[in-house]
Amino acid sequence: MTEKRVEREQKKETKKTIEERTGLRVLLSWATLFGIVYGELDERLSIKEALEKALKKPVPPHAWQLFCLGGISFFLFILQAITGTLLMFYYRPTVAEAFSSVQYINNYVPFGWLVRGIHSWGSTLMIIAVFLHMLNVFIRGAYRHPRDFTWVSGVFLFMMTLTFGFTGYLLPWTQLSYWATTVGTELPGAIPVVGEYIKIFIRGGTDVTGATLTRFFAIHVLILPFFITFFLAAHFLMVRRLGIAEPL
Ligand code: HEM
Repeated sequence: MTEKRVEREQKKETKKTIEERTGLRVLLSWATLFGIVYGELDERLSIKEALEKALKKPVPPHAWQLFCLGGISFFLFILQAITGTLLMFYYRPTVAEAFSSVQYINNYVPFGWLVRGIHSWGSTLMIIAVFLHMLNVFIRGAYRHPRDFTWVSGVFLFMMTLTFGFTGYLLPWTQLSYWATTVGTELPGAIPVVGEYIKIFIRGGTDVTGATLTRFFAIHVLILPFFITFFLAAHFLMVRRLGIAEPL
């Protein structure tokens, strides 16, 4: 060994002992995702192996660009969940404060206008993406056995996506949202016999009031997220198990 190399090795040795003495390496490892996921947790749960198994599943050659529509819908859903959570930090679901809290988000909260813009445009985009995904699945005949349950779970997802849009529309409590909800909740009222009861149940009374706002807020931020997570999990599990449908 040359003298320089011996010197380098000795330096390395001292560095190692310092790291060992301070526990720096362990500390750094814990502070990083890799350290925890691929280190400590992986040692116990074999995450790396599970991830590799999941990510190495080959994509069939007939899966072309339109197959991304399901993924795009999911991406938009995640975007809605993140921006919606941020909006909840400032939004107030009462008749007296809903409109002014939205104005406050738009004009005073840093990047509030951006978060709100992404959330409201995101909702429209998500409805379009989910609809196109559904159309794609329909045209390819991928709804048939054995994917019939995937389709049914999708129908629930579609209805929930629309309900997200409908309930969210009332939340700013503007003239537009008030009257849109009045007209929208009038529709089930046309159902014979039970219609009136359904309308009153949705509105929380005979008219659109603060009770409707409270109800729609609860549906929008609690009930729907709970159910959609369940249906998404079922949808993905079935997609994964059954694989992508063969071309017609
Ligand atoms: C929030 C809404 C939804 C999300 C996030 C979602 C997500 C996905 C994803 C990621 C896939 C696999 C890739 C693909 O084929 O695009 C898929 C497949 C599928 N989805 Fe959806 N989906 C949603 C709504 C729907 C709706 C509304 C329907 C129909 C009513 C539906 C029916 C199906 C079917 C039958 C498949 C299997 C397609 C095949 O095997 O070729 N999904 N979905």
